[in-house]
Amino acid sequence: MSSSSDNPLTRFSAFFWALGVFSLFGVIVLALKLFSSDTSESNPLEEEAAVKRYELRKATDEAQAAGFAYKEVEKGKVVQVPPHDVFAHLGETLVSQKAAAIEKPEQIIPNSDRQLAAAGGPSADFAAVDKMTPAADSPIDPAVMAKGQATYMMCMACHGPAGEGGPVGPPLAGSEWVTGPVSNLIRIQLRGLQGPMHIKGALYTPLAPMTPIIATQDNETIASVLTFIRNSFGNKAAPVLPDQVEKLRSELGKPMLTEAELIKP
Ligand code: HEC
Repeated sequence: MSSSSDNPLTRFSAFFWALGVFSLFGVIVLALKLFSSDTSESNPLEEEAAVKRYELRKATDEAQAAGFAYKEVEKGKVVQVPPHDVFAHLGETLVSQKAAAIEKPEQIIPNSDRQLAAAGGPSADFAAVDKMTPAADSPIDPAVMAKGQATYMMCMACHGPAGEGGPVGPPLAGSEWVTGPVSNLIRIQLRGLQGPMHIKGALYTPLAPMTPIIATQDNETIASVLTFIRNSFGNKAAPVLPDQVEKLRSELGKPMLTEAELIKP
């Protein structure tokens, strides 16, 4: 009986048991590895992009909220600030979030209008658009004026109900820019305007720049609001055509303009 543990059959089967258990272990480890590499491996690039998306989303929400109800919490109280502060704050918020889209005086973006203007005046495209302007005494469609007046609601907070200007926006009434070259006006609508500007013989330094208004970016809306300001508040000038806006579509999204990039009225 002493030889029972040394039985060749026992040794043989023990060997196969061990081999079986060992390979099963290997299969489990392999399966776990495959499974886990699919789900739990993090992608740092994707995470970083997600963080940026959330930050941008939060900033956008804040800017939008600021436009409608900007409140300042002071000693536990909610203080409603005057409307011109709302717009100044909105302007600043938008500017601080779109740093790349603002050309600072000390930083001239290659191929920007500023650089091109320095190299030889504004592009010929602008002159071509100005040539499309109808005669000064052309009749003005009352429907266009009505649409323009409705859109002007968005401009009123800064430029005043009668275009007289206010703490945040310069006057449109009697402004040589408003009755001047149409390409300037279209480009201001599409790109916004920043920095000091000469208006009606005075140097105007804005509290905050004029950022482009998202809701007013289609050809008809821009043409009608510009036709409206050119023919209201005592101003009289030729209407602006949607086709003129169409010709300058490529301006949309470019950095905010400065006075130097506009054609002198
Ligand atoms: C958030 C305030 C704000 C709103 C809203 C706004 N503007 Fe302006 N606008 C300004 C500021 C500030 C300037 C001057 C910017 C500068 O000098 O850099 C300006 C300048 C202008 C100018 C050229 C200067 C002048 O007085 O002739 C025109 C034209 C103009 N805006 C038209 C409009 C129209 C049209 C709308 C509505 C679709 C509008 N703006 C909405 C703030 C605003």
